[in-house]
Amino acid sequence: MSETVSDTGSPRTVNASMLRARGLRKEYGKEEGLVRAVDGVDLDVAPGETVAVMGPSGCGKSTLLHMLGGLDRPSAGEIHLAGRRVDQMGERALARLRREAVGFVFQAFHLMDELTARENVELPALLAGSTPRAARRRALGLLEQVGLVDRAKFLPSALSGGQRQRVAIARALANDPLVVLADEPTGNLDSEATLDLLRLFDSLHEAGQTLVIVTHDSRIAATADRMISMRDGAFIDETRLTGGTTGTTGTGGAAAHLGALAGLEE
Ligand SMILES: Nc1ncnc2c1ncn2[C@@H]1O[C@H](COP(=O)(O)OP(=O)(O)OP(=O)(O)O)[C@@H](O)[C@H]1O
Ligand SMILES: [Mg+2]
Repeated sequence: MSETVSDTGSPRTVNASMLRARGLRKEYGKEEGLVRAVDGVDLDVAPGETVAVMGPSGCGKSTLLHMLGGLDRPSAGEIHLAGRRVDQMGERALARLRREAVGFVFQAFHLMDELTARENVELPALLAGSTPRAARRRALGLLEQVGLVDRAKFLPSALSGGQRQRVAIARALANDPLVVLADEPTGNLDSEATLDLLRLFDSLHEAGQTLVIVTHDSRIAATADRMISMRDGAFIDETRLTGGTTGTTGTGGAAAHLGALAGLEE
């Protein structure tokens, strides 16, 4: 990948990755208690690419994902999202990044129990300053996309695990994120619900969404463009499963996103 120097004097990739990490590390504790949860990870995710990360429990997958999405700060290394440096952002800019540029999906869904499916999906748009009307329209459109518009008024407690995860995915998409980061999204689902999610991730991929999925499920990993194996905090192997990005809007769709982070720095 070629590098050049932008007019601000900082290095900038011309052929930009959507998500880029260099020398990423996360350490917990010290001396004998030191844990190197992530230990020198380099990663480039192209616009529209789906990357699956697999590895045994405790190898650092969640820690990595949390840093990539600005939920946690690295001990060392760099993270760039759409060409913008994430690891040096101040708290306010980071909060905005998490809200507007990153969509998280977690194993345990993390829906608000007292809000309906629709209200859960509306929330990120409302927090980002949408009008209630626009947020509602967006939420219903997304629930339609994940096949749950008829459950819009249900509380999470009245939904199955698979349905809850589909609501969580709709919520992750609410602000049209640059990247969706999913941490074991099918970890709490049965086989049938997993297949539903598989189809949903596939359709996001087709639509040009950039995705990083941590998974133990080889069926999910098999739909990725690239599968990365992680051990003891580091990447040890990588398999390319497709010729490159396969999204129909691919680079074009995601390229339209580049620059969407303007103004995220304080
Ligand atoms: N807050 C913390 N303090 C100390 N150690 C931590 C902390 N968070 C994670 N770790 C350690 O970092 C390592 C990586 O944890 P992480 O949760 O990233 O693993 P994982 O690959 O996601 O595992 P799993 O597949 O079980 O979810 C583990 O050894 C864990 O004990
Ligand atoms: Mg984990």
